[in-house]
Amino acid sequence: MRAHEAGALHADLGSRGPSWLSAPHDVNALVDSLWSSTVERSADGALSVGGIDVRRLVEQFGSPLYVLDEADFRSRAAAFREAFPEYDVYYAGKAFLCSAVVRWAVEEGLRLDVCTGGELALALRAGVDPTLIGFHGNNKSEAELARAVEAGVGRVIVDSMAEIERLGQIAAERSKVVPVLVRVTAGVEAHTHEYIATAHEDQKFGFSIAEGDALEAVRRVAAADGLELLGLHSHIGSQIFDTSGFEVAARRVLALHARIVAELGVVPPELDLGGGFGIAYTTQDDPQDPKTLSEGISRIVDHECRALGIDRPRLSIEPGRAIVGPSTCTVYRVGTVKRVALDAGASRLYVSVDGGMSDNIRTALYDADYSCTLASRSSSASAVLGRVVGKHCEAGDILVKDEFVPSDVTAGDLLAIPGTGAYCRSMASNYNHVPRPPVVAVRDGQAGLVVRGESEDDLLRLDVL
Ligand code: LLP
Repeated sequence: MRAHEAGALHADLGSRGPSWLSAPHDVNALVDSLWSSTVERSADGALSVGGIDVRRLVEQFGSPLYVLDEADFRSRAAAFREAFPEYDVYYAGKAFLCSAVVRWAVEEGLRLDVCTGGELALALRAGVDPTLIGFHGNNKSEAELARAVEAGVGRVIVDSMAEIERLGQIAAERSKVVPVLVRVTAGVEAHTHEYIATAHEDQKFGFSIAEGDALEAVRRVAAADGLELLGLHSHIGSQIFDTSGFEVAARRVLALHARIVAELGVVPPELDLGGGFGIAYTTQDDPQDPKTLSEGISRIVDHECRALGIDRPRLSIEPGRAIVGPSTCTVYRVGTVKRVALDAGASRLYVSVDGGMSDNIRTALYDADYSCTLASRSSSASAVLGRVVGKHCEAGDILVKDEFVPSDVTAGDLLAIPGTGAYCRSMASNYNHVPRPPVVAVRDGQAGLVVRGESEDDLLRLDVL
């Protein structure tokens, strides 16, 4: 466990916030890399997304509100499709899943990665061709596997010996042959928060390459009647900027692929390199565009295949965050503002909004950094160090740890936080009996709900009197 949130935060405060944060020349200016492509500050100072003023959106749909920019989502999906022309690109639905985004992803030529029966159910109901679905999970139940097999999903990514046996049986009982990828652990220390790194040895996902488990799993899949070996799968973690992790992983996975060819005499036709491509949450982050990523990954794979004397398998990737993350901002209403004295005469403005860790747990859970801006107007007041906090009964209920905000920010103002499309609504909770906010999609001046907000009745419905 990390140290207590407040302790760590107090440690490096100072009057100017963390060293990476600098006071803006203009507190109203938007940092383009953080916002979806259609976000603008209009002449009267308010923010608009997809051609709609956020004040109007909040009037109609309430706050907090996730505002999803359809054009931005589609263009990021299309950018991956175009940058990876010889790959299959699976949108990782765990980042954010609803029927609308599933439809957009498929229309833009992507496939879909799901990791639970619930995600699978949503995808099937949204009408996704099951052969375009990849089914993940380290502990899929028999019922989930049976449903996936009966639906005819395009691939199941197996993660344990028990699952290989279970899936083989389920397939055989139904006289089906299920295409299977074997998830392996490449033994890479990805440079990201430990909770979202997945390729080092001491964590729950995958079969270890180093320990020989991966080769044994492949052997069992190849031998099972109801299973068809598609290939290996490696996902090293999430919010990764440093491509060297992908390089090392690709090298180790391809070396195993070559061993499978040599020792088992089977040529797996595919290889999946997972997702995990980072996005910009603050000015600290400098992500690579899909084209640069694609060139880097393809260069490594081609080089390794040549060196190993094997044909390049068909590749796939599974970006989630890099497609949906920047497409969404969350708009909140400010409720209270409190100036808190820090050391050496410095102070910080605590801005409390009407949501919090129930609609974005990432700051509390991963120590994630976010940014924000005043959304209902611009301000000519000076910029002061602020912290955006929620309404939950917990001191760690922080949305934006450090950002400069106008000193005149006040109750009733709207505040927007960019980059909340991935792992915010999908990880939202009802902590403190706070209803989860709606998601509204905007495009060309039109707005429509894609996920309804919860009402008090929704919350009370589950309570047994
Ligand atoms: N493929 C596999 C097998 C995965 O496990 C994941 C993410 C992805 C693809 C998509 O990764 P992405 O491109 O979105 O980074 N809740 C955490 C992230 C957990 C990621 C879990 N797996 C967060 O909020 O940062």
